[in-house]
Amino acid sequence: MPIRRSIVGIDSPDRLATSLRDAQYLADDSLATAAYLALALGKPLLLEGAPGVGKTEGAKAIASVLGRQLVRLQCYEGIDSAHALYEWNYPRQMLAIRQAREEFVNIYADDFLIARPMLEALRHPRDTVLLIDEIDRADHEFEAFLLEFLSDFSISIPERGTIRAQEHPVVVLTSNRTRELHEALRRRCVYHWIDYPHPTREAEIVMMRASQVAHDTAYRVVAAVGALRAEPLAKPPGVAETVEWAEAATLLHEQGAAWPAAFRRAIGVALKDQDDLTFLESRLDDMLREAAA
Ligand SMILES: Nc1ncnc2c1ncn2[C@@H]1O[C@H](COP(=O)(O)OP(=O)(O)OP(=O)(O)O)[C@@H](O)[C@H]1O
Ligand SMILES: [Mg+2]
Repeated sequence: MPIRRSIVGIDSPDRLATSLRDAQYLADDSLATAAYLALALGKPLLLEGAPGVGKTEGAKAIASVLGRQLVRLQCYEGIDSAHALYEWNYPRQMLAIRQAREEFVNIYADDFLIARPMLEALRHPRDTVLLIDEIDRADHEFEAFLLEFLSDFSISIPERGTIRAQEHPVVVLTSNRTRELHEALRRRCVYHWIDYPHPTREAEIVMMRASQVAHDTAYRVVAAVGALRAEPLAKPPGVAETVEWAEAATLLHEQGAAWPAAFRRAIGVALKDQDDLTFLESRLDDMLREAAA
């Protein structure tokens, strides 16, 4: 199978990891390898993982590395093909008909077609990265439709005929694994599970993403977040929470709060579930003191 033209210059997982770093995204070797293979083999990349581990951001970084526009389809319960593919601009069609009076007007011309992300990616496969975000939120019916789309990258518009992509677009799918995805869909993709980053890596992310956070603070916040994630919480903090917690605690520290206290007072940035807060209440101070040691 020929290597995609679009990744000329990115000839190894290492090179991709370096480019992703330049785009402010730190990828482990396993993620860089999966992403590289997906690009090289022309297959969709399926990223699964807990909330906030960097799935969406990973897709954005890939688009940035390729110099392409990210076209994002956010999935939700009840999403249908009109939201994913295209819609006819009905009010505009009506207006055109009224204004045309006796004359012929083609109400199925491009002017009246509202392209949604999947059609957009089919039309411009070389300029876009299609992100199908949180596919687990969509229902099985939509997943089956998606599978068909990913099989031949063509869609049929009854009034216009079939539109086929000139080459396979780059597609990234993400899932929070609130339910299992179909076997057939997985089979079509290169799969990668994104775990919470290793502490050293997460501290590096904090220093890269947060402004004005000291090295020691980054390590302390990562230790604290690690302790929280070890608990059976409903909403364990993701990497975004780590970054924000480091920033928030730094701000309070600059205003005079001592270290464990600064983390404690900024806890609303890390834990956003009342049951989790109640569950940890009696131990939280000790946990944070230990982490900040
Ligand atoms: N590997 C990484 N390199 C750099 N920043 C990262 C990385 N992973 C996560 N982040 C940071 O964490 C934030 C959250 O990541 P993102 O929104 O991609 O998570 P997600 O997995 O899509 O979460 P959700 O399931 O809630 O949508 C990003 O905005 C970014 O600041
Ligand atoms: Mg996301």
